[in-house]
Parts: sequence; C-alpha cells; structure tokens
Amino acid sequence: MNAPAGRPQCGHTQAFGLDTGPVSTAPVIEPEFFAREREAIFRHQWFNLLKRADEIPNPGDFFVRDIEVLGTSVVVARGPDGQVRAFHNVCTHRGNRLVRAADGCVKGWQCDFHGWTYATDGTVQFVPDEGQFFDLDKSKMGLPSVHLDTWAGFLFVNFDDAPRQTLEQAMGDFNQDLKPFPFDQMICAGRWRYHVKANWKVTMNAFQEGYHVAFVHKRSAPDAFTGTDNPYCNISHMKLQPNGNQHLSVPGNPAHDLSPTEQIAFKFGSTFTQGTGGRGAYPGTQQDKSADWGFELNILFPFSRINVGAGWYYLDAFWPVSQNETVYELAYYFPKPKSAAEMISQEFSKIVLRDLSREDLYTNEVTQRALNSGAIKNITLSDQEAAVRHLYRTVERLVGR
Ligand code: FES
Ligand SMILES: [Fe+2]
Repeated sequence: MNAPAGRPQCGHTQAFGLDTGPVSTAPVIEPEFFAREREAIFRHQWFNLLKRADEIPNPGDFFVRDIEVLGTSVVVARGPDGQVRAFHNVCTHRGNRLVRAADGCVKGWQCDFHGWTYATDGTVQFVPDEGQFFDLDKSKMGLPSVHLDTWAGFLFVNFDDAPRQTLEQAMGDFNQDLKPFPFDQMICAGRWRYHVKANWKVTMNAFQEGYHVAFVHKRSAPDAFTGTDNPYCNISHMKLQPNGNQHLSVPGNPAHDLSPTEQIAFKFGSTFTQGTGGRGAYPGTQQDKSADWGFELNILFPFSRINVGAGWYYLDAFWPVSQNETVYELAYYFPKPKSAAEMISQEFSKIVLRDLSREDLYTNEVTQRALNSGAIKNITLSDQEAAVRHLYRTVERLVGR
C-alpha cells in the first residue's frame, strides 16, 4: 500500500541510529535473561511510584509499594517534620515486615512480632523490655532508608546503594519537553492494577506503537486513532533518547465520528479520544510537531510512563515480576471536577482507557504463550515499531548481550 500523503512511513529507526535486523525472543522468555536484567538494570534505576508527593500531604500520611522484582517492599511517609522519606519495610529487630497496611495516616507503626514502634520519620520510638538488650542504641536502629526524589511532584525511589545518576539526569530531555505540563493542577481520579502473564517488555511494547490499534482496538476505538488518512495509526513524532527514554505522539483522527456518549462527555471536559477537541495547544506537549495530534506517550526507562493529553494525564508502569509475569499499574489524573457533569465526563474517559488497556493485556498473554513455545527465535519489526526495537536494544546493551 502506498504511503498516505503527509504521513512519514520511514525514518524513525535509522534516524535514531538503530539497526533494522531481527530481534531475538530470548530476552522475553529466558529466566536467566530476566535474572541478568534484575542485576544490570532494575537494581540501579529510578522507579516512578505513580504517586505524587501532594497525595500524602499531612504528617503521618504513608503508602507501601511491594517491588516484586527486587523482592522488597518500600514505605513512603511524610514525617512529623513535614519531610517525605522512603524506607525499607522491615523491622530492624529481627527483620519482620513492619507495615501491613497499603496506606493510611498514622502516628507511627508497631511491629506485630515483638512490638517495637517506629515514628513516620523512621526513628525507633519504643522497645518493649529494652533493658534485656545489650548496649542497644535506639538512635542507630531506625528503618533502613531508600533513596527518594521527586520530579514535577512525582515520587521516585532508587534501591542502589549509590545511584549512578540523579533523577534529573535520568529524566533527560523530559526536563525540557515534559516538565512544563500542569501536573499539579490535576488529581488522581482512578487507579488500577492487573496481574499479566507476560514478560514486562512484551507487555510494555504493546503500548508503544500504533500498528496494533486498527486490529486489537477495532471494536472499542474503530476510528478515534485511525482514519482514511492514517489507517495504521502511524506515529508522526518520535524521540528516542540514548538513555532509553522515549517519546511518541499518538495521532488523533480529525474525522473521528463522535458517538452520542462522546459528544456529551467531551462537552464537559475529558478528551481522551478527541485530541485537543479544538481547545488549542497544551503546555508540555509536542502538538506542534504532529499533524492530527491525539496524545503523547512518554516512556521513562525502564518501565514507567507519564502520558499526557489535552487536560488529562495518566501514569502507568509495567512492574516486572518474573520472565513471564508483570504487574501493570495505571493511575488517571484530571482537573478536580466542578460539577457532576464534569465528573461523569471524566468517568467516561477512564472507562474507555480501562477497556482499551484490557484489550492490550489480553493480547500480551496470548503473545507470551506463543513466544514461550520457542517456535520462532526472532521477531521482525517495522519502522513504526522503532520504539519497540529501541527498548530491546537498550536492554540488550545494558545486560551485555
Ligand atoms: S521483628 Fe519487629 S519487633 Fe521483633
Ligand atoms: Fe493498545
């Protein structure tokens, strides 16, 4: 088929210095490769916890995240002094898991094994029968800290003893390209977690190309992102950073035939399947570089994203668990609704995104099972799948394959 007028059909892959050959399936099916990823990548990267510092605004507010790939759990809490800190979720007495709740607001935590108590700044407050211990210095028994930093208000942790780069360095070009987005003017409107039986790269790669849209989403989004001028959802603007970060502009279809529900929903704010909806440029986006702008995917290597649209954004992460298991987590942010109509409008966009994601996740599991058969040793990628290739090549380089 000829390239539709005005649509770039090639140039992403070679523009970013990538090869054009086949890509091995070993990195998504071999347990040994996953073990090497853990040591070479995951132990050293900043992880976006998909939560903002302003979502734990009060002293004592906390939340817990289990990081399966590193076999650990982290507690993030705002201390009595107002400072946010991150700790390993482990009691320093005999190593029991300290915090069982997922989140909350507390004065401190008490270990349920022998009752040691800790304040939300990580210091030990009370040791039962303390006189039985030998030279116990409580000031040295605080919770082990985890490196924590924020970027545009988002909380990140790093489990390295000495992180190899600052969070700002890890964000690369997003410091200029994405940071101006008004993240602080929106609040979390919904959060989901899915357990997916697929490798984290198989899962994530289905979310960073438009080639599948006309097929996987043919019923749920028959013409929102594809149309006669762009039938295969070609990505018109792509930026692949040497550190593994990626930016993709997903096109919208200017001829998208709004359903009656969309017509009502978009009148009151949300625009997930309608690009800007005629609302003009949005700060921190690359609208000017993309014809028929829809929304943007911003991938923070290795596995989280900050995806922005005109008046909304969503955070997601493809948390690796094993070579064929991933936890997909998604949090959707909107301006605080000022009316019931705006709330319903936002609910509509949330559900559309949820359903689209579930279609992708189902395909991921089917793909993984087929890959596990070992019947093919390589996959074949088009220029429109340059971001997929970039992820594989970045991982292979770091793992040393
Ligand atoms: S392990 Fe926590 S008090 Fe003993
Ligand atoms: Fe999709």
